[in-house]
Amino acid sequence: MAGQGGSSAGGRGVVISDNWPGYSLDLFTYPQHYYGDLEYVLIPHGIIVDRTERLAKDIMQDIGDNDIVVLCVLKGGYKFCADLVEHIKNLSRNSERFISMKVDFVRLKSYHNDQSMQDMQIIGGDDLSKLTGKPQGCSQSGWESQSFPQAPNSCIQLSTQQCPWGTAHHRAVADDIVGTGRTMKVLLNNIEKYKPKMIKVASLLVKRTSRPDGYRPDYYGFEIPDLFVVGYALDYNEHFRDLNHICVINDHGKTKYRV
Ligand code: HPA
Ligand code: MG
Repeated sequence: MAGQGGSSAGGRGVVISDNWPGYSLDLFTYPQHYYGDLEYVLIPHGIIVDRTERLAKDIMQDIGDNDIVVLCVLKGGYKFCADLVEHIKNLSRNSERFISMKVDFVRLKSYHNDQSMQDMQIIGGDDLSKLTGKPQGCSQSGWESQSFPQAPNSCIQLSTQQCPWGTAHHRAVADDIVGTGRTMKVLLNNIEKYKPKMIKVASLLVKRTSRPDGYRPDYYGFEIPDLFVVGYALDYNEHFRDLNHICVINDHGKTKYRV
């Protein structure tokens, strides 16, 4: 694992090179129901947590005395978001500066098996309709849906509960993985409409894909090879979220859980 600790925003994450062999699965414990489905451990759980602590410190340095709203990108971002928020809370408690934090959730879905889909869905998040007026294409009651020109046929669905979005907060978006960057661009375009004071994106992983579209998060934990990874809430068709380490799935695992 060639790498260097990140500095503050814009710094490089830990870079995992293409020829990094990973760790043998025999060196760690993991759920028995995944025996035979994984190739190797790419990033052990402890390293993920330690690296996340450093990202929390970098974020705290950059936000100064401002309150933040953390937008957790579900489902894959829930472990990273929970650990990041916990670290920010602990660092804040152990300093003179108490940061007020709110956490909100949005759900994105764009993968089927290990392939990125053209159609992307953004589901959840608190109510934006009070700010936007009634979006077009509204379907179920209590839910709004809207099309995005950036991603043909994509859809945003927003629940109509309370709305913390109108105030000029700093926002941090916590995601699990940035692949092509397409998903994050669509999400950011939507958040920017509500004119937050500042938006920063933290992603645990950035993938070196062959078709990057120029998007880099402000903070990221690890830059990884173009492999399909699972664990630490990252899934393959909803499986492997209960695996602590980030691992590379093997062909047997892909076939077993293919839909
Ligand atoms: N694993 C799980 N989900 C993903 C990945 C991945 O490698 N890339 C984009 N979404
Ligand atoms: Mg994600």
